[in-house]
Amino acid sequence: MLELFVLIEKALSSSSTEETIKFTRAAFTLSEDLDRILEPNDRLIAPISDVKFPAKPLWVPQRDLPRRRLGSEAGKRSFIHAIAHIEFNAIKLALDIAYRFKGMPEQFYKDWLYVANDECKHFLMLCEHLKTYDCKYGDIPSHDGLWGMAVKTESDIIARLSLVPRYLEARGLDVTPAMLDKLNAQNDTASAAILEVILEDEVTHVAYGTKWLDFVCKEQGIQREGVFFENIDLYLKGQILGPFNRPLRVRAGFTESELTELERLDKRKIK
Ligand SMILES: [Fe+2]
Ligand SMILES: [Fe+2]
Repeated sequence: MLELFVLIEKALSSSSTEETIKFTRAAFTLSEDLDRILEPNDRLIAPISDVKFPAKPLWVPQRDLPRRRLGSEAGKRSFIHAIAHIEFNAIKLALDIAYRFKGMPEQFYKDWLYVANDECKHFLMLCEHLKTYDCKYGDIPSHDGLWGMAVKTESDIIARLSLVPRYLEARGLDVTPAMLDKLNAQNDTASAAILEVILEDEVTHVAYGTKWLDFVCKEQGIQREGVFFENIDLYLKGQILGPFNRPLRVRAGFTESELTELERLDKRKIK
């Protein structure tokens, strides 16, 4: 089914948010309608440098971004914008997993297109909400950390699944409940309602990371926990940040022993 992968490629190589969403939704709808996804054996994969992003927002290192304080109007605007940026990156991240790794079962492609479609929904909800702050996506410089991990893991599916859904996305499960508490304390029900939808969907996204990492490990006859921590060590070089939300991570497929090991490695605790 070459057409499906052409649509994914178009979504990845577009630098427009509207086009990225249009092609992502078309790819998702097509994947849902198909009884079978037959991946052509000779499918050519464009280099990851062909994946494009909008010219704005500017990408800057996280350390150069001002701290966002939820108490002020400007702080809230930056906060919503920052999450919109994460969600836009998440569209490309999910698409890239579906695009870059060949020879997987058809459900693999369906699952990651389902995730990409969810991320479009998250991004659009936040863009709509940004309007109430007189702001649109692209107006505020944003951090550059997410896509960098996709580039580093472009040729290694085990590293990609370990670091993108099971580390970067899983961080959302840890930090979002506290954000929700703050928003609810401020009676900001509009922002809280969006974050609640996102949080619930993200459990599924991380669970897909677990499911497919399990699959690849089983196929290769290796043990998931061992390779997960080898990759965490290799790519994060000890920069592991907790605390971890155990109940949500357990729902997303983390084992108790994985969580205990993550807690042991938590940089904040090691000092
Ligand atoms: Fe999301
Ligand atoms: Fe996600």
